[in-house]
Amino acid sequence: MRTIHGLFLVGVALFVFGIGFIVAGARAAREAAPPVPVAATITPVASVRQIMNAITGPAATAVYEAVSTTIDADGITEVAPETDEDWAALADSAAALIESGNLMLMSGRAVDQGDWVTMTKAFMDAGQEALRAAEAQDTEGILTAGSTVNETCDSCHARYRRD
Ligand code: HEC
Repeated sequence: MRTIHGLFLVGVALFVFGIGFIVAGARAAREAAPPVPVAATITPVASVRQIMNAITGPAATAVYEAVSTTIDADGITEVAPETDEDWAALADSAAALIESGNLMLMSGRAVDQGDWVTMTKAFMDAGQEALRAAEAQDTEGILTAGSTVNETCDSCHARYRRD
């Protein structure tokens, strides 16, 4: 009876010692690991509607209206960015347009992981085309990209907009 008791105590001691070993090992591993950057907690604030009205819509309008040709009684009026600042402002709008796609992909806002993601990515690719054209100061490129962007807005609205 005494022997069993003694063995039991030895067993308990080994067990506790083992736990101590594991804890010490884990602590050592933690200290050796490089510091992991702590990702900021991101909480979506705006609704999709607010993003559309405040960011996507105005940025798209800037791209659509940057280049145009109007023919009326006064003759032909050509509109296009002229200075480096005009082109830089257009590139800013194209970048904001693309960035609004990232906002639409955030968890808590993405409606699903299928068509929503595919359509948002198509929209962002079209925005990239506009950004590249603005950086290259390519007037024709803005026109082409503008119509591609417009198609991506329409297809997502056809699928997801309820009103
Ligand atoms: C990935 C999907 C998606 C894409 C791409 C998209 N939209 Fe939308 N948009 C929506 C949804 C969904 C709504 C409806 C939001 C609501 O009413 O809650 C909406 C609504 C809108 C509204 C109306 C907001 C209101 O007050 O009713 C405007 C304006 C708008 N979008 C502009 C655009 C423009 C411009 C583009 C392209 C440059 C675009 N959207 C691309 C999903 C999209």
